[in-house]
Amino acid sequence: MSRRPPFPGRMRPAAIRAAILALVPVATLLAMGCPRGPGADRAAPVRGAAAVDDARLRSAESEPESWLTYGGTYGEQRYSRLARIDEHNVGTLGLAWHFDMATRRGLEATPIVVDGVLYTTSSWSVVVALDARTGRELWRHDPGVDRAMGGRVCCDVVNRGVAVYRGRVYVGVLDGRLEALDAKTGQLVWSVVTTDPSRPYSITMAPRVVEGRVLIGNGGAEYGVRGYVSAYDAATGRLDWRFYTVPGDPAEPFEHPELEAAARTWDPSGEYWQVGGGGTVWNAIAYDPELRLVYVGTGNGSPWDRRLRSPKGGDNLYVCSILALDPETGRLVWHYQTTPADTWDFTSTQDIVLADLEIEGRLRKTLLHAPKNGFFYVLDRETGVPISAKNFVPVNWADGIDETTWRPRERTDHPYETGVALIHPTNYGAHNWQSMSFHPGTGLVYIPAQETVFPYLRDRAYEYRPGAWNIGFDPKVMTESPAELASGHLLAWDPVAQKEVWRVQYDGAWNGGTLATAGNLVFQGTAHGTFAAHRASDGEKLFETRTGTGIIAAPVTYRIDGEQYVAVMAGWGGAFALSGGDAALEAGTTDNTGRLLVYKLGGRAKLPIVEREERALVALPAADTPETIARGNATYHEWCLVCHGAGAVAGGVLPDLRRSAPEIYAMLPEIVLRGAFEQRGMPRFDRWLDADDVEAIRAYLLSRRAQLAAER
Ligand code: HEC
Repeated sequence: MSRRPPFPGRMRPAAIRAAILALVPVATLLAMGCPRGPGADRAAPVRGAAAVDDARLRSAESEPESWLTYGGTYGEQRYSRLARIDEHNVGTLGLAWHFDMATRRGLEATPIVVDGVLYTTSSWSVVVALDARTGRELWRHDPGVDRAMGGRVCCDVVNRGVAVYRGRVYVGVLDGRLEALDAKTGQLVWSVVTTDPSRPYSITMAPRVVEGRVLIGNGGAEYGVRGYVSAYDAATGRLDWRFYTVPGDPAEPFEHPELEAAARTWDPSGEYWQVGGGGTVWNAIAYDPELRLVYVGTGNGSPWDRRLRSPKGGDNLYVCSILALDPETGRLVWHYQTTPADTWDFTSTQDIVLADLEIEGRLRKTLLHAPKNGFFYVLDRETGVPISAKNFVPVNWADGIDETTWRPRERTDHPYETGVALIHPTNYGAHNWQSMSFHPGTGLVYIPAQETVFPYLRDRAYEYRPGAWNIGFDPKVMTESPAELASGHLLAWDPVAQKEVWRVQYDGAWNGGTLATAGNLVFQGTAHGTFAAHRASDGEKLFETRTGTGIIAAPVTYRIDGEQYVAVMAGWGGAFALSGGDAALEAGTTDNTGRLLVYKLGGRAKLPIVEREERALVALPAADTPETIARGNATYHEWCLVCHGAGAVAGGVLPDLRRSAPEIYAMLPEIVLRGAFEQRGMPRFDRWLDADDVEAIRAYLLSRRAQLAAER
């Protein structure tokens, strides 16, 4: 399809000037010395995705009518200068249009908007291009991911969006491909496989384009992989450089010199390289064009338990770190490890925000980071040396950060060595991939924060099982839904004073990413199926609407012909939702239809919310012995929990196995051992389980069903 996208019409010079003045405080305009001012680019002819080049990406904040890159700008502040929608009129916000994403799995994408065309992704890495004013589909690209891939991804078959550059749309595909599409037609231009298909790698992150290279990482550390980030030539797809975040097989030479230093922090008797070591780059990348540094966040160790990974200790560089890389060579300039020798899955893959802050009378180039471990870090982004670090939720794994070494003062008084350690925060994170935003006007960071607790119990019988879940902790201890122990809040955090300024408390965790705007607003969707706007300065709720499913993605904003729009992907899912986020009440009551929702002032479109049908529970005979049920309970929690939920209580995305149709229980061996539903994303387990195991699981599921029926 090569239909011309609808470009914003030409504006009269006076109208342009008026629009500029409405947008930015005059002082800001003066400081910017005009030609680079926000309206300047708007006077130039608008050429669409073909004209997105390095200069435009570098000054993305000066054309707020588009949303050019994942975090809005290279500094990923997720702040927009648009102010037509503001604290006074946001109450009249209404739906302009919605687009059905044809999925009931999680939606995590940040849409990219270029001159009136919106590019976004659905589950299974499907890309769509839409007319951003009407929602009309311009093209669609389905990379055709084998649905059996669903069995080797930790956290739903999600995708966080595309990058647009010089007429091409780049997408990381779940199965490890990186693809370049023609932005006008959606036709495939090139496709490269970025990972070893024999290992359980996956890609969910949005690529970023920096100085003509497409940067992409990968995930898979729960199953066992070695992390790295790669740079491909945007024009040709040729691999330019690759940075491995952890050392490989000690018998092999180092791929690059940084790994020699890293290897000294690992104990090779742990045979970490067989499992992979982890350190995957699965989400965060930011870029400072002046310093010419690319900042990359790395993930947890693989397996999680450091005693298995590196029995004699060591920090295990570069897991759970921020790496500053040279964009041209991929060489390491500095690193800072937020959780040395991590054992709790405290990734540093949470978003990285670059901001210039006045600290003790001095303007500092800072990097802001709120990883899973619960501490808010302000680093000097030139050197990587921390300026401050403070916990933004209660934590019990460390007593703060030592301000001379900048290492956490890890606590050892929990029963980690001997029994169940109730640690908080957790693998779900005090903050996860749901992006935070920074408002230069209020000086505050808006964090989708959460308080979670997880029972970590060492898996004493652990052995490496290629292709299976390999964390080294015993999931059988988790028979209660993690949602029962979790809460979430929108946290406004002062990064200079390192203190909370206000919060909006939610019942449940796993809420959406945030967007800050010059209208003194913060937008956020919630796990409970609402989308809201709060006053950025004090948190007062000024607008709220029902969305029919939980929101985990971050909103964006753009403008066409003077009209400001706010867009957000609505689709409950992701790690927390699969493993039992029943606290997402809305997700439990609707059919979880995934949509792109677009709002404008006075919008009047109606959202067709489909309520979930409560199936009557047909009683089923459950004549099994308590021993069989107990065995089924253990097997279920070892193999099924991560997708069907703790205690067989599903989180609103995948089937609740207490409520299946009667014939499903009869089909269980077909489904679990012979892959009957493999093309719907349900893995087969015949490598690990046999008919007896499935019988025991059935006994457990039927007992849970009987309990549910009795509770009603
Ligand atoms: C990686 C995620 C994942 C894991 C792990 C997983 N499943 Fe599934 N399961 C799915 C998906 C996806 C579906 C299909 C949903 C659909 O119908 O579209 C499904 C469907 C099912 C169904 C059909 C339910 C119905 O009512 O239609 C059964 C039964 C089932 N799974 C049992 C199990 C058992 C038992 C285990 C553990 C041995 C397990 N699953 C582990 C993802 C998973």
